[in-house]
Amino acid sequence: MDNEAPIYDNHGRPITYLRLSVTDRCNLRCKYCMPAAGINFLPREEILSYEELERIVRILVDLGISKVRITGGEPFVRNDLIDFLEQISRLEGLEKIALTTNGTLLAPHIPTLEELGISSINLSLDSLDRKRFEEITRRDQFKKVMETFHLLTESSIPFKINAVVMENQNTEDIIPLAELTRDYAVSVRFIEEMPFNGEGGNDSVLTWTHDKILDHLKDYYPDLEQIQAGPHSTSTNYKVPGYRGKLGIIAAFSRTFCGTCNRIRIDAQGTLKTCLYDSGVLNIKKFIRDGATDAEIIKLFRHTFANRAKDGFEAEQRRKENHNPIRESMSLIGG
Ligand code: 5AD
Ligand code: SF4
Repeated sequence: MDNEAPIYDNHGRPITYLRLSVTDRCNLRCKYCMPAAGINFLPREEILSYEELERIVRILVDLGISKVRITGGEPFVRNDLIDFLEQISRLEGLEKIALTTNGTLLAPHIPTLEELGISSINLSLDSLDRKRFEEITRRDQFKKVMETFHLLTESSIPFKINAVVMENQNTEDIIPLAELTRDYAVSVRFIEEMPFNGEGGNDSVLTWTHDKILDHLKDYYPDLEQIQAGPHSTSTNYKVPGYRGKLGIIAAFSRTFCGTCNRIRIDAQGTLKTCLYDSGVLNIKKFIRDGATDAEIIKLFRHTFANRAKDGFEAEQRRKENHNPIRESMSLIGG
């Protein structure tokens, strides 16, 4: 089938961006994502195979998806990820393949990723202090991640840094992280913490909101300039005059960007989410394993996109009504 014009949801938003989690496993234990003991990782057979993943991506590209971001867990803990990336890089109509990674296993793959034309990498880095990094991630991998950071600055792949801002954890890192943009052409994005920590009970009051992070940056950089963001951007973007890189703030908890949301997610067990805050709206794996044809799967996708919650608050409300409060780990969903 030829690539079609994008498919629109019931609120007139084009759906052009898939975030695909290829594993729920991770070699770090970031506090905002998992309890110290980890989560109950899925048994291997519950995870979509590369064949199944490729089929889903192909069908969605036919439906108008033009960008896929590979997430986890940590995508590079899954064997043969590079082969899978190579496979999907051949799909006509798929213009961009991006990756989100914690950077601990990435370094040896950078040349291959350059060859494959990976369009961008998001590197999670919440602190520039080794001890705080270890406190947040519960693993002593700071040196490795910084090595990866430097390799990325020398590579041809554009990259961004994701830092979740947490009271009493890493607020002293906000300015040092922002200062990376002085010398490096990198985007550093500060993210509001969300309640996806794998245990629930963290959805009360958010201290470090978008506005508070912005005020903090403005105190230090009085001449901070706002810059235009792309049409489906989730961040508000800024620049310190004279610096090479950019700054961004993602209101992930305040959810001010839902009106232009063009993204869907498929988690590691093959559940489709049309909003980060929904509890899963379609079990694709079940249909695939029951032998559904491409045409049947397309019909299911179309139906699901036509019933999308209008924003993250409505999606969360729907799950509350189903007595299904947020408890899952971001490691399953992939951010
Ligand atoms: N709140 C906000 N951001 C999170 N991430 C993971 N868990 C959370 C959370 N609870 C972000 C990390 C990572 C991306 C996949 O999602 O920064 O870069
Ligand atoms: Fe791993 Fe990313 Fe979760 Fe940290 S946030 S534990 S790096 S999946």
